[in-house]
Amino acid sequence: MKTIITLSKIQRREIPERFRRDDNRFSETLVEHFLEEYTRKGDIVLDIFAGLGTTLFVAEDMERIPYGIEYDEQRCNYIRENLEHKENILHGDALKLFEYNIPKCDFCLTSPPYMPKDDIENPFTAYSTQGSYKQYLQDYGKIYKQVKQIMKPGTTIVVEVSNLKNHGEVTTLAWDVSKEISKVLHFEGEIVIKWENVNTETNDGIYGYGYDHSYCLVFRNK
Ligand SMILES: C[S@@+](CC[C@H](N)C(=O)[O-])C[C@H]1O[C@@H](n2cnc3c(N)ncnc32)[C@H](O)[C@@H]1O
Repeated sequence: MKTIITLSKIQRREIPERFRRDDNRFSETLVEHFLEEYTRKGDIVLDIFAGLGTTLFVAEDMERIPYGIEYDEQRCNYIRENLEHKENILHGDALKLFEYNIPKCDFCLTSPPYMPKDDIENPFTAYSTQGSYKQYLQDYGKIYKQVKQIMKPGTTIVVEVSNLKNHGEVTTLAWDVSKEISKVLHFEGEIVIKWENVNTETNDGIYGYGYDHSYCLVFRNK
């Protein structure tokens, strides 16, 4: 597999007006790329931070079986309204993965909620409680320990994440997340996604975070 790929950041799926201000989806092209590489028809595909459902919708279009968890109830409802496998999107918390009745999965693709290192709001409660960067990183360990249990042996887990440039400071989020998850899953390496259709000068919301690339961290459940 190539370790640098170029994809368009433009999302094909129209979303309702109410979600457009916080549109932090990845593009369908990213999901298609990894599903082609790591899955076959009929496989179970998991996204534990389902967002507005990109992984799940593309999985369904490609005749895979989607499962997802989303913390935000409105986002979850939106996915449920538009997914064929309606019962497979759960309103819940990735930190409590064990509590849900999710079958053993063949592939996991997700993009977590981000946190700059000096923030004090916890991304894993949709920024509704206080937190710290240290706690946030530790939570990745708790979450991915559970992901490991839910995945079939030998399967692949991909996490899309970027470093963050914020007011002249860089949060090395991608490095830190890979280090944390590596404690529980085998790190196979990173794939650099070079995003097209991104304007880093104006930070016009097409990508953001001060970069025109992100990383897909590839782990294996050995
Ligand atoms: C970057 S977005 C994912 C976007 C998704 N890849 C897409 O294309 O639609 C991260 C999502 O994780 C959700 N989230 C945050 N904390 C969570 C948690 N503890 N459990 C499950 N979902 C959570 C957020 O509400 C947000 O929708």
